[in-house]
Amino acid sequence: MKTYKIGVVGGDGIGPEVAAEAVKVLKKVQDGFKLDFIDYPFGADHYLKTNEFVPDKAMDEIRTLDAVMLGALGDPRCAPGVLERGILFRLRFGLDLYVNLRPIKLYTEKLCPIKGKTPKDIDMVVCRENTEDAYSGEARFEKKGTPDEVAIQEAKYSWKGTERIIRYAFETAKKRNGKKKVTLVDKANAVRAHDLLRRVFDHVAKDYPDIQKDNAYVDATCMWFVKNPESFDVLVTTNMFGDIITDLGAMIQGGMGIAAGGNIHPGKVSVFEPIHGSAPKYKGLKKVSPLAAILAGGMLLEHIGQKKAADRIEEAVKLVLQSDALPSIDASSGVPTDKVGDMVVAKL
Ligand code: IPM
Ligand code: MN
Repeated sequence: MKTYKIGVVGGDGIGPEVAAEAVKVLKKVQDGFKLDFIDYPFGADHYLKTNEFVPDKAMDEIRTLDAVMLGALGDPRCAPGVLERGILFRLRFGLDLYVNLRPIKLYTEKLCPIKGKTPKDIDMVVCRENTEDAYSGEARFEKKGTPDEVAIQEAKYSWKGTERIIRYAFETAKKRNGKKKVTLVDKANAVRAHDLLRRVFDHVAKDYPDIQKDNAYVDATCMWFVKNPESFDVLVTTNMFGDIITDLGAMIQGGMGIAAGGNIHPGKVSVFEPIHGSAPKYKGLKKVSPLAAILAGGMLLEHIGQKKAADRIEEAVKLVLQSDALPSIDASSGVPTDKVGDMVVAKL
């Protein structure tokens, strides 16, 4: 039987709680294939104890896995960005996971904060570039500590890095049962470097005559997410803009408790995670929704080639959301994290 090796990094805050539910659900859909889970301790506790993030040896081992399920990273005991750079970016950049794939899908009307929008209106996917932009550029501080201090942050966009994410977006639009449309989201009217994105977009689009191409500025995109989300199908954008618009996207699909993502390098080990953070104030309280992590588990299955099992997870989550048993997906739902996981298992 086909066996896949799946790493699990629970991480910080609520990360371990939600990752555990994703693993619980993944264990239940092993039908005709097997998943072997390997736990990794990386996160704040491990760092504070050992001073290590993800050692080279572990990186080498992770490269031999089929996929990784990640909970969340970030802990108030560490300065902002320390664990994110040390662990999350080490995985994203170190494994060259150049796609951050973030579906924005409304599963049931009651979850939508926008009046009159239904599941047929909100069904899109953001392809966020995941290795460039200000996220990986150099930072420089001149005259630090003086009144004349200036901080300079590079935002880099390479032709190759831009081409591969745009190509991925067109391929996604081609495969998807959607509007066959790709929208490039940028700020080319203010950021001169974004001219490159537009040239690459036009270049790649020539290979996809059946896919409609569209350009949108990131500020207008935010407006349209609320005003007419039905106009979007596949969006492709920079690392930073992708980060920002997918939090807005999460809200129109019902909240951070439902938004899943994958850090992907097609054909290679990839890392799947809920897009929410570690929410330290809820740590250990079992109050948060594991549905985002569970859906990320579904994306993981699709990545390793088990689309049928992936679809089963998505369908089960949809049924739970449509039932009255789960009044909301925020921390006030009154249904403990592990019980939500059980509900999904019951629907499988
Ligand atoms: C995300 C997160 C991260 C990001 C943070 C934790 C650095 O917000 O995955 O969206 O900005 O990429
Ligand atoms: Mn984010």
